[in-house]
Amino acid sequence: MGRRELEQYKRAVEQSNIVSKTDINGIITFVNEEFCKISGYSKEELIGKNHNIVRHPGVPKKNFRLLWNTILKKETFKTTAKNRAKDGSTFYVNTTITPILNENGDIEEFIAIRYDVTDNVALTEALKKKEKELSLLNSALENRVKEQTKELRELNQNLERRIAEETEKNREKDRLMFQQARLAAMGETISNIAHQWRQPLSELGIIIFTMKKYFTDKNEKGIEKQYEHAKKVITKMSKTIEDFRNFSNPDKEKSSFSVKNMIEDTLSILKGSLRKAAINIEVDIDEHITAYGYKNELSQAVLNLISNAKDALLDKLLGEKTLKISSTQNDNFTTLSIADNAGGIDDAAMDKIFEPYFTTKHANLGTGLGLYIVKTIIESSMNGNVCVKNENGGANFIIKIPAKEKIHDE
Ligand SMILES: Nc1ncnc2c1ncn2[C@@H]1O[C@H](COP(=O)(O)OP(=O)(O)O)[C@@H](O)[C@H]1O
Ligand SMILES: [Mg+2]
Repeated sequence: MGRRELEQYKRAVEQSNIVSKTDINGIITFVNEEFCKISGYSKEELIGKNHNIVRHPGVPKKNFRLLWNTILKKETFKTTAKNRAKDGSTFYVNTTITPILNENGDIEEFIAIRYDVTDNVALTEALKKKEKELSLLNSALENRVKEQTKELRELNQNLERRIAEETEKNREKDRLMFQQARLAAMGETISNIAHQWRQPLSELGIIIFTMKKYFTDKNEKGIEKQYEHAKKVITKMSKTIEDFRNFSNPDKEKSSFSVKNMIEDTLSILKGSLRKAAINIEVDIDEHITAYGYKNELSQAVLNLISNAKDALLDKLLGEKTLKISSTQNDNFTTLSIADNAGGIDDAAMDKIFEPYFTTKHANLGTGLGLYIVKTIIESSMNGNVCVKNENGGANFIIKIPAKEKIHDE
């Protein structure tokens, strides 16, 4: 390279960079315009001073040790340096310090060429700060999410516990209600037995009276006849008790049974009170119709429906009182309808009649449990459903239950 070219080269470097030179002891021997501009010192203030005039007090000593160790080994040192300007402000420069050697290979001076990266560093630092803020925010967020999740989980567990408790309470209430309903049914049973015994009891009274007469007449044959009659009456009376006993015993197992039989059994229990209420009963059920489930429980449900119909019909002042019981069957279901002509159910009551304790009857006449029991029996025990319609001048309760045992019983 010629001298002229070298001169141009030097100018190009100086114009585009921040350049300084020091002697081997670090005393400044040369600075260019750019160096003065960035450091805020004049050439006069810099030349002859130690280069550490722009040293930033925040930079650790070991950085300088590394610098000196490197350049004294005649190697180039590169770094991003943090410097301080005359006015105390900080600037960053990407710095390359190169030792200049003489013909003997000894260090003659050092040249430092730098460019300003203050903006870059500021940006990077701002970015780092933002990143840190973000990660703090993030972990704060994570913590909140964790806390919330924990709270939610606890809430959930509490809720589950509460539900379990409530369910247990409800079950207890159901048990109580069933007990009450059973008692109510028993009360009804006893009054029905009383009804059914009224006639045989008076029959027995007559028999005893007649026997006493035959006894004084010494009519042995007559006595024998009355005795046989009395035995029949008593057998019938105990049969009534037997009927009720079977009836109030819940079945242990599901079975297939004749619907007509079940209805007849139920009616035989109610015969007395229905006759007294002057109710016409029409039963229209084909012999072959069957249903599958707990016969006695279904019978209990039917009994509740009939006694409701009876109550409603007793309030009816004009016209015939009729109760129609009919049934149909298809492949899967048996339908049983119990319809009266007592005027039906009020629109306002319609939605509530299956609720426990809902009654429109006088306090000591209605428990409000009858239809609740019906619904429970039909839905829970019989896998069926029950609904009601107002039609033909009265209420029609329709029960739908499985007709046969399913191969795959759910
Ligand atoms: N066949 C019916 N006709 C008119 N109303 C009825 C009939 N069956 C039930 N109800 C109405 O439904 C209510 C609830 O019946 P239920 O649950 O058996 O309780 P309870 O008979 O003790 O009142 C009755 O109070 C009555 O208002
Ligand atoms: Mg009732």
